[in-house]
Amino acid sequence: MPDLTATVVVDADIPGPAISRHLYGQFAEHLGRCVYGGFWVGEDSPIPNVGGIRSDVVEALRELDIPNLRWPGGCFADEYHWRDGIGPRSERPRMVNTHWGDVVEDNAFGTHEFMALCELLGAEPYISGNVGSGTVREMADWVEYLTRPGTAPMADLRRANGRDEPWRLRFWGLGNEPWGCGGRMSAQAYADLARQYGTYSRDHGDNVLYRIAAGASDWDVEWTEALMKAVADLDRGPFPALPFQAASVHYYTIGGTWTAKGSATEFGADDYWRTIVAARDVEPLLRRHIAVMDRYDPQRRVGLVLDEWGTWWDVEPGTNPGFLYQQNTMRDAMVAALHLDVFHRLADRLVMANIAQTVNVLQAMILTDEETGALVRTPTYHVFEMNKVHQDATAVPTYVKAPDLVREVGDRQVPTLSASASVRDGRCHVSLTNTDLEQAVEVTLDLRGADVSAVRGRLLSAPGVAAANTPAEPDAVAPREVALGAGPGGVTVVLPPHSFAVLEVDVPGLTLPSVPAVEERRPCPTCP
Ligand code: AHR
Repeated sequence: MPDLTATVVVDADIPGPAISRHLYGQFAEHLGRCVYGGFWVGEDSPIPNVGGIRSDVVEALRELDIPNLRWPGGCFADEYHWRDGIGPRSERPRMVNTHWGDVVEDNAFGTHEFMALCELLGAEPYISGNVGSGTVREMADWVEYLTRPGTAPMADLRRANGRDEPWRLRFWGLGNEPWGCGGRMSAQAYADLARQYGTYSRDHGDNVLYRIAAGASDWDVEWTEALMKAVADLDRGPFPALPFQAASVHYYTIGGTWTAKGSATEFGADDYWRTIVAARDVEPLLRRHIAVMDRYDPQRRVGLVLDEWGTWWDVEPGTNPGFLYQQNTMRDAMVAALHLDVFHRLADRLVMANIAQTVNVLQAMILTDEETGALVRTPTYHVFEMNKVHQDATAVPTYVKAPDLVREVGDRQVPTLSASASVRDGRCHVSLTNTDLEQAVEVTLDLRGADVSAVRGRLLSAPGVAAANTPAEPDAVAPREVALGAGPGGVTVVLPPHSFAVLEVDVPGLTLPSVPAVEERRPCPTCP
């Protein structure tokens, strides 16, 4: 029996915001071995594939119910010219990927290949158009190419390339990190461009875009304010359609500094705790951006999109520094679990989030071996798989009663237990994360407002926090069923150090009103 105990109180009958499934979004950039070697191997590869797309990667990712996939970048988006990636592959022009490894990109993976990948994954596409080095016309044409029915110049070009029907496309990004790799612009300069590019990114036929303006870095709330000012004054008058429906923000968890981020697998307790502090900071950071948005849009119709997040370590020794390939351990799993709790809490404004990145780059779901092609599911993958039950569920208030479970890190008091819960279809799911490095904790689940008929649980843990999966040991870290106890206060579960659990509670008859997720709410009733 562990020395430490805690109670997690869940008000199962008090509906909070809908947890959009899009908070579980992914990100695939033309960067290192994410697209090439990760998703795409080409039709002639000995690795089994469907039209060049790796079958094992698709199969593994389908288990996550990926809601959306962001592409083609990142920084790459602002030097990508979509026309280079259509038509016969042998005739596609080549380009230099200046941001990532300075390698030559042959454009084998382009629009049709990406949309085919999304269809295989059952995920909605989220495409970021080029603002940094493109033109308004280039962006407008790409939207037309993708979504326009009937006869029109771009629709005809699409048809000539083998696709008759337009695709369904909702999520449309207006550039990426314009304050940095996307053009080094001022907030005001970009806000004006976002209005312009957003205006010409048209809705064609019955396809309605959800335009996402490229947002702030980290704590830069002035950037968010500039974007909110740019839409607030357009929401009135005779033509109230907004040029964009959401603003993004990027926040990476860096345990060290940008120049010395530290190893993904070799780290000490101090490194670990700095990482947990950085991960926990995502909540105050998002709340600050939300506070600014609330001033301009108190009805919460404009969405916030965290379309890049996750851990960023030094690359694995011997790999290309521009490829951002890193291992993934239980520490990364802790970071993912903490973020997802925060997303559930803030789902009334947070529309979407995209972890960076899906395969072979940064905090990946999947790592593939360059030599053998072997595929490994990372600890972060398992957090996403275990937590997918929260997608499109209703968040319910969750409180951690554990005054002693606090760790002092520098001048910060960091709670070591985190939790969130949601209800859907007569079931309540409770996620629990014990970030303590040494101590197990016995958690009592005090579930109020519902009759409990049965409880099950799964646990992700490993003897060491640096435990990782490798081709030799692909299941060193994998979820398993966990034994539950019964105490006077409710169901109990023991969480080992640095572990993550999801409890599934049958609450027959409990249904909560479903509040539409923010991305389902149009910014104004008269908008197209
Ligand atoms: O995800 C890697 C890079 O990080 C992206 O290309 C860029 O947007 C961010 O700086």
